[in-house]
Amino acid sequence: MDSIVALAKRRGFIFQSSEIYGGFNGFFDYGPLGSELKKNIRDCWWNDMVRRREDVVGIESSIIMHPKVWEASGHVAGFSDPLVDCKVSKQRFRADQLFFSPVTVDGAIVGYVSALESEDTTAKLQAAAETFKRRKAIVGTLAPVTPKDFTEATSDQIPLIPSPGTGEPGSLTEARAFNMMFQTNVGAMTDGSSVAYLRPETAQGMFVDFKNVWDTGRVKLPFGIAQIGKSFRNEITPRNFIFRSREFEQMEMEYFIHEDADWSQCHQEWIEWCRQWLISVGLPASKLSLYAHKKEKLAFYSKGTTDIMFEYPFGVQELWGIAARGNYDLGQHALASGKPQEVFDETSKKKFVPHVIEPAVGVDRILLAVLCAGYAEEDVTDDKGNVEKRTVLRLSPRIAPVKVAVLPLVKNKEALVGRARALYKKLQRRYAVFFDDSGNIGKRYRRQDEIGTPWCVTIDFETIEQPGDTFTLRERDSMAQRRITEVELFALLEEHVY
Ligand code: GAP
Repeated sequence: MDSIVALAKRRGFIFQSSEIYGGFNGFFDYGPLGSELKKNIRDCWWNDMVRRREDVVGIESSIIMHPKVWEASGHVAGFSDPLVDCKVSKQRFRADQLFFSPVTVDGAIVGYVSALESEDTTAKLQAAAETFKRRKAIVGTLAPVTPKDFTEATSDQIPLIPSPGTGEPGSLTEARAFNMMFQTNVGAMTDGSSVAYLRPETAQGMFVDFKNVWDTGRVKLPFGIAQIGKSFRNEITPRNFIFRSREFEQMEMEYFIHEDADWSQCHQEWIEWCRQWLISVGLPASKLSLYAHKKEKLAFYSKGTTDIMFEYPFGVQELWGIAARGNYDLGQHALASGKPQEVFDETSKKKFVPHVIEPAVGVDRILLAVLCAGYAEEDVTDDKGNVEKRTVLRLSPRIAPVKVAVLPLVKNKEALVGRARALYKKLQRRYAVFFDDSGNIGKRYRRQDEIGTPWCVTIDFETIEQPGDTFTLRERDSMAQRRITEVELFALLEEHVY
């Protein structure tokens, strides 16, 4: 993970937000290559989800919506995480990410240990229990730890659990609900009447605009409304680089179906569609898995939620959630606004509120996944038998920030540079391309490998001296080289960049 974060910074993919002021926790900036990569992910999703489907349309709703939207959706009352404060260190922790265990020696509890959730929480707690026993010079047999998260701590246990901020017990508060929506004020007044929220999800835009799209969009069930846009959550513990941040971008689609439709089949179809889409932008199927949420943990209106999980370097984590939400959201907005959200079905001659399947994914999480899956350091042997290290980012040509690098072999031969410039200009009309004439050709290839450029084209003496106007095409992954014409190069790009 450290190497990926370092590469992201070194090559201008991702920077800390406001870095010259020491950064701002939970916020990130995308640099020249990162913003291209992000745009490509968005464009691929929009093309596949909206333009290439006949049953999905797109919208762009505002980030700040009427505050009643968030009352009706349940976010004002319930969009919260359990928060614990440390009164001494002033640090805050998510209660469900703070684990504790009694230290039990010869069957008696002699104290408590705590650890923040990680890959090896249990091992950390066990090590802390052993240290505790040794420091207090307690004799006897230590039992294995029994980790629980802080939401399960009783009021008797809370004063005995050490704070991760100080290492000592006695300073942690009881867990309380912390609403994650960012508040702002709209207009000149800054009292309660002007309170509004930055949206914590893009989904509500699709529900609130449902009737507008139904009335104007020439749509019929089943159909979807999709949107890409920024969402904001005041996460208590933003972490794992861009995995969990406070400002992030979502790509969500609400697929409206008949109330009598087979929701389960539709749900399964969308799960598979999303999985295939992730593979199409270069994620290996072997790093993807499905996690079906347990029935008893679902919201009362939810029929089922399955997450597509990705194997990040810091563990297997949620990438894309696909939820079957019944008709809860439209029903809530009908109640709160007094505007019916029913549609009339010509076949059954019935009026009903459509049900919905919702695939919701974060752009930043996909971007992190493709960086993690694509990053490799490998030993390569050159023509002279020397072994050297190369860093390569195996990004799919669909999303790679630069598709082709155009490299004149030398920079002091006008005919050769002129031919390279002409090709570069022509490619530029359709693709993100890079022109590089500085340094030896091997170094130039390495620079492109590191940023994930799938192909380099070298304009060499054969190009200008031999008939055929051919270039050397060098492939990033195999490092194989072959000669190619301009027509063949455009055909190659046409096939792989879509
Ligand atoms: N409308 C449903 C919804 O928003 P969610 O599971 O809270 O569901 C959907 O979010 C997706 O948005 C997640 O699967 C994840 O990819 C992304 N996401 C959520 N919170 C995020 C955060 N703090 N930082 C980055 N991405 C986030």
